[in-house]
Amino acid sequence: MFDRRRLSNNGPLVRELENRLCDLHEVPHVVAVANASLGLIILMQVLARQPGGEAIMPAFTYAGLPHLAQWAGLRPRFCDIDAFTHALDPKSVAGAISNETSLILAVHQVNSPCFVAEFEQLSATSGVPLIFDSVHGAHCTYRGRPIGGFGLAEVFSLHATKLLNGFEGGYVTTRDGGLAEVLRRQRNFGIIDDGVTAGIGMNAKLNEIHAAAALACLDGLDGLVERNCARYRAYSDAFTGIEGLDWVRYENNGEQWNYEFFLLEVDDDFPLSRDQAVEILRGENALARPYYSPPLHRSQHCPDFVSTPELPVTERLAQRFIQMPVGESLLPGDERVLAELFRFMRGHAPDIHAAFSQRRNP
Ligand SMILES: Cc1ncc(COP(=O)(O)O)c(C=O)c1O
Repeated sequence: MFDRRRLSNNGPLVRELENRLCDLHEVPHVVAVANASLGLIILMQVLARQPGGEAIMPAFTYAGLPHLAQWAGLRPRFCDIDAFTHALDPKSVAGAISNETSLILAVHQVNSPCFVAEFEQLSATSGVPLIFDSVHGAHCTYRGRPIGGFGLAEVFSLHATKLLNGFEGGYVTTRDGGLAEVLRRQRNFGIIDDGVTAGIGMNAKLNEIHAAAALACLDGLDGLVERNCARYRAYSDAFTGIEGLDWVRYENNGEQWNYEFFLLEVDDDFPLSRDQAVEILRGENALARPYYSPPLHRSQHCPDFVSTPELPVTERLAQRFIQMPVGESLLPGDERVLAELFRFMRGHAPDIHAAFSQRRNP
């Protein structure tokens, strides 16, 4: 990068990365962007069936997603999810489609892809554009095909916490050459020729150093997934037999997974609440967090113009899961230490309840 004196503006490392990602996702076009958020904003802006309409999305997902729709000039419209896959429920979406609908933004979950076929069918019959937030679907497959080739486009992140780490960054995959061209233009201020713009674009270019980091990470992708899988198995072994706890499985159904998360489910017969357990974990310096909680329609930043629908499955699941510490900084054996902590919580629940209530009413 330094020898070439080329730091940004669609440099050779960005183009190399795009080509490698085309192979990984088995798609003809990849457009690298500065982060997934900007990729999603540009896509929504370009594809919205009508400006100012509704972007259908789940409320059981990343907290920033509705903000991105608003940056694209759209209104979030939340729909419910499927209880088993945690992915957007096609029936809930079908019921929400109206003249106001601008697009469907379906989100792949780490433990399950979306109901891709159902959404592609719904998009074809309703004429509503379909895109996927595939940030947690990197390296995964749907019906044997890599995620990345579905809908009009899919968006991935290269953030440091994601499977492919470019420090920051993101990319859009698509089978549509015309759309890829528009996205390339839009990520570069909308410029088509020296100083001439074809619309309101922005600066969403990925620079060379982030592309270099992502390329280095791509080289080690298989090893990364293997280590994720080993941690997931170590967690599964360690938590086996603790009454009142379960975890989200990666189904053994021939699909490929990235094993990014270990999601612990706190059942009603565990003697502490999910939030109490998280507080205890945090007190022991374990980087655990409530998973997708509160759901986005309950967020304090949910604007007044977004109606608060009944989302019973979302509401229930948002109270149950803990995203347990994962990633390369987890030391071998940490999974067992964390499982022991849960056994301790189970064994000392009355004392823990007493301590919590004494703190509430000192
Ligand atoms: C589901 C989902 N979508 C989008 C994003 C935004 O990605 P980025 O940080 O690359 O903008 C995230 C980030 O965590 C995410 O989890």
